[in-house]
Amino acid sequence: MTLYFSNSELHNFADELANEIMPINLCTDDKLFIDSVNLYLKEDGLYIYSKEFKPLNLLEFYREFIAKRRQLISRENLIQAINLTKLKSHVNELNALDLTGGLGRDSILLALAGFNVIVIERNKYLAIILRYLSIKFMDEVKINLIFTDSYEYMSHNQVNYDIIYFDPMFEDSKKALSKKDMQLIDLLISNDDIKLNNINNDVFFKQITSYCNKLIVKRDNKQAHFFTLTKPTYQKLGKTIRFDVYQGSLLYNN
Ligand SMILES: C[S@@+](CC[C@H](N)C(=O)[O-])C[C@H]1O[C@@H](n2cnc3c(N)ncnc32)[C@H](O)[C@@H]1O
Repeated sequence: MTLYFSNSELHNFADELANEIMPINLCTDDKLFIDSVNLYLKEDGLYIYSKEFKPLNLLEFYREFIAKRRQLISRENLIQAINLTKLKSHVNELNALDLTGGLGRDSILLALAGFNVIVIERNKYLAIILRYLSIKFMDEVKINLIFTDSYEYMSHNQVNYDIIYFDPMFEDSKKALSKKDMQLIDLLISNDDIKLNNINNDVFFKQITSYCNKLIVKRDNKQAHFFTLTKPTYQKLGKTIRFDVYQGSLLYNN
């Protein structure tokens, strides 16, 4: 597992991206050996090279995603699930913790809505991609990566967040997996050596809700609630996806 870069002028940037996550190596296009999946930093962007998909330039991917979502951010179901107006009347600086970064699309939505976002990701490829996003688009979205396991992070956390966001894998939903970007996440993850945690859902739920005003959990409409200790306080329903919202202990007075 290596982050490749295409010329020596990119050495420092590659080093900054891969720091403590994976080794880096200079490599020209013709020598790039596509194992199953590679991250390749070139002058015009960071690419995902794989056997299954054509190369994806993440600079373009994020540029388009941000431009498209910025205009109508208040209409996003995730943002509507939060009830932003109420939150904004209580705090000047909104902060959010995204426990499951992935490609960072939901973190971007939160950042576009005005949150300072801390995003956690335990997969090495995705952590580098999220770090790239946070550096390249720092003027547009405030996102900071923590490369760790969320369960591990929450067991030590003492910071309050206005919202905590959780988007677990659609482990039991074939429909969601058919989406192309989910397949890409799947591909990146299948190349990592992550062991599944044996977590106690109730303990995790309590750890999260003790440190936030709201916990928002993304689910496929066909899926049961992820947490079963209590029912969601309310839900925001979309066509195929819903957001289960739980009131946390960090209460704001009206
Ligand atoms: C469904 S994807 C999230 C997609 C994301 N919401 C987006 O907008 O791109 C779930 C992600 O959570 C990460 N993940 C799963 N369990 C985790 C854990 N315990 N700690 C940190 N990251 C985790 C996976 O590696 C995967 O990238």
